[in-house]
Amino acid sequence: MPAPKKLFVKTYGCQMNVYDSERMTEALGVSGYQETKVVEDADLILLNTCHIREKAGEKMYHELGRLRALKKSRPTLKIGVAGCVAQAEGAEIIRRMPIVDMVVGPQSYHHLPELARRAELGAKIVDTEFPLEDKFDHLPRGPKSKSAPSAFLTIQEGCDKFCSFCVVPYTRGSEVSRPPVNIVREARQLIERGAVEITLLGQNVNAYHGAGGLTLSQLIRQLAQIDGLERIRYTTSHPKDMDDDLIAAHAEIAKLMPSLHLPVQSGSDRVLKAMNRQHGAESYLRTIEKLRAARPDIALSSDFIVGFPGEEEADFQATLDLCREVGYAMAYSFVYSARPGTPAAGKVEIPAEICSDRLHRLQSLLSAQQLQFQQAMVGRVLPILIEKPGRESGQMVGKTPWLHTAHFNASETTKGSIRTAKIIRSDKNTLAAELLQ
Ligand code: SAH
Ligand code: SF4
Ligand code: F3S
Repeated sequence: MPAPKKLFVKTYGCQMNVYDSERMTEALGVSGYQETKVVEDADLILLNTCHIREKAGEKMYHELGRLRALKKSRPTLKIGVAGCVAQAEGAEIIRRMPIVDMVVGPQSYHHLPELARRAELGAKIVDTEFPLEDKFDHLPRGPKSKSAPSAFLTIQEGCDKFCSFCVVPYTRGSEVSRPPVNIVREARQLIERGAVEITLLGQNVNAYHGAGGLTLSQLIRQLAQIDGLERIRYTTSHPKDMDDDLIAAHAEIAKLMPSLHLPVQSGSDRVLKAMNRQHGAESYLRTIEKLRAARPDIALSSDFIVGFPGEEEADFQATLDLCREVGYAMAYSFVYSARPGTPAAGKVEIPAEICSDRLHRLQSLLSAQQLQFQQAMVGRVLPILIEKPGRESGQMVGKTPWLHTAHFNASETTKGSIRTAKIIRSDKNTLAAELLQ
């Protein structure tokens, strides 16, 4: 028997890419590729890339630059670029970086085993089609590379919102929801492989629309019936699609975890309008009020963009005001990055010093809120989903319902079990806990 070919995958960007990388690894596993963590051992290197901000795209070119020497020393090595840069730049990538053998967009991953075969024979390939079939249905499932208590499951892809700054509608295409039967089947498979928590993924997950008009809240109600599935999360949601039944689900379904990522981007109506966000600051705050009425302990997180073209100090102040009003458990914030092909690209940009000053001020407020939220956990008794051994011996690490990492000493504990623990201390990025018997 020939020695198995080795596959090395590097993933950039969002959780959707993490999920896709796992599925690609499995699919290539079926055609004889074994995953390796050592890049020098690889016969095929796949970079699963992100195009969301300029820096994200540059990372891929830097990595390819580093791989040049490896390719030179091993000419049989094949290099593939997948993900959102592949979709956005297509053949341009091979033109700029001739060491690349294969460019494959996110909607063509089910072609990957065939494309890899052709690349092995020396072909240069660009596949950035948007085929009609559900790629996940056509991606062969193999033995999973890793079985973890917490798993991702993509249920919806693409975006029809067209925020004026964002590449996603172009790189991932228009909104497509997977059929509920496939999702339920995959959830059961994941549970059989040891998952206890499932995070439903979609670029616009709460715009999910399954067969017969099934909504996300209805899908969650179905999934909550599955024995062995203890925790359900979903991300990322758009404020406009946070409907009343989904909010009600947070009150009714104990398995639905009390944290929600609901990006607002800005607190200024003027900026939100220029961003084409299709919601205002007021309507966002009303949604949060309803969520908190349904589930008083719900923790909110968000994404922010500062320095969007036309943002004035008063607009930025409105963003700070909104943060103070909401009180976030966690948030990501970014300086606006113009993306070629998006409607906002080409608009007059805010000077870099002003952007970084605003980012700095926003981030100090957000980290203070994050710290306060984390410290408020001390003294509480919480259910912790045990995920893996900790850094020190005799230590285990798990996750609270609010996504904090907690570590504690334990002589025996099973990965994937949910145990009650008392939080005794808040460290920099983690909580220290004590198991209660
Ligand atoms: N679907 C998600 C967003 C995915 S992108 C949503 O609608 O919220 C993740 C985050 O990246 C966005 O929420 C936004 O804050 C940020 N982002 C997207 N495009 C950007 C750009 N051009 N410049 C800076 N940040 C950007
Ligand atoms: Fe991008 Fe807006 Fe779609 Fe989110 S909703 S993916 S920010 S276009
Ligand atoms: Fe990046 Fe594409 Fe995700 S641009 S954030 S990898 S959808």
